[in-house]
Amino acid sequence: MTTDAKILSALRENPGGVSGAQLAEQLGVSRAAVWARIEELRGAGFDISAGPHSGYRIVGEPDALLADDLLARLNCFGWGERPREPQLSKSKRLARTLAPPRIIGRDIRVFEQTTSTNDVIEKLARDGVKEGAVVFAESQTKGRGRLGRKWISPARRGLWFSILLRPDLRPQETTQLTVMAATALRRAIFSETKLQPEIKWPNDILIGGKKVAGILTELNAEPDKVRHVTLGIGIDVNLDADEFPAELKKTATSLKIETGETISRAELASAILRELDLDYALICTGKFTAVADEWEKHCVTIGKNVTVQIGGRKICGCAEALDDDGTLRLRTEHGHLERITGGDVTLEK
Ligand code: BTN
Repeated sequence: MTTDAKILSALRENPGGVSGAQLAEQLGVSRAAVWARIEELRGAGFDISAGPHSGYRIVGEPDALLADDLLARLNCFGWGERPREPQLSKSKRLARTLAPPRIIGRDIRVFEQTTSTNDVIEKLARDGVKEGAVVFAESQTKGRGRLGRKWISPARRGLWFSILLRPDLRPQETTQLTVMAATALRRAIFSETKLQPEIKWPNDILIGGKKVAGILTELNAEPDKVRHVTLGIGIDVNLDADEFPAELKKTATSLKIETGETISRAELASAILRELDLDYALICTGKFTAVADEWEKHCVTIGKNVTVQIGGRKICGCAEALDDDGTLRLRTEHGHLERITGGDVTLEK
């Protein structure tokens, strides 16, 4: 973690204030260096008050994604754990802010604008960057969805990000990662908004039947082995109804529209990365069934009659279950069992 991330982490863990001397001691830098970093953070939009008795306190946050801020938020909870025990002493709490990250989110980069964050991750992957790197963009000029669709990504209205993964999976098992992303997104959206999102196989998150988020999993693989996977996630967080193009108005929504409130994108982003990290650990240790069980509980596709469009082919039937590798088991209208790994699913009424 950078010094800025450590300072933000310590300030969040101590909402009553932390003195410059305490920060300097914990971080192993001078008080003047702490002061200089605080000035930088103020410049980045953080409103940090300084009092002779209370010390430094965060009193306002920018509506911007900042890599240090996201790293700090992730480390606040002792990575990969549920919120820490409240009875820890102040010095232990400060020490805890320095806990090392696990996989997803140990490297976070934020761009003001990109073509597509999936493109940036693909480039990082080819450069040999370690798995777990996350790239956010405040806006994308060529955001893409599944099946060659365009993904609108207006500046600061949503979370547009991609994650580099190098799982030990066979190419046909990578649907597990889309399933993992859907369960993690659902949990994080629920914990941050109390909305009850539903999952539509394989990659949509719905609220009240309207799409609020999508997942685009892109694979770079040899015939039997995955080289790397780019997990792209787009969430319509603070878009207003009039910001959706006409063709999406009936089928898409945002968290702001559903809650009537502006959502902190940084808080939601860190909650998602935490949940993803927990589920990725399950996938990496062969415990996909735990993820799949949760997925099935919240999936609107299972038990429904659906139509799946795969290229020029249309298959109608009942979605029976999720297989161990993440594929959808479909009982066709002619009674055959089909295993669906991709395509466009429409739920029949
Ligand atoms: C879909 O529902 O079709 C998937 C949408 C995925 C959109 C995200 S936004 C971040 C990442 N970059 C992209 O270009 N696409 C994904």
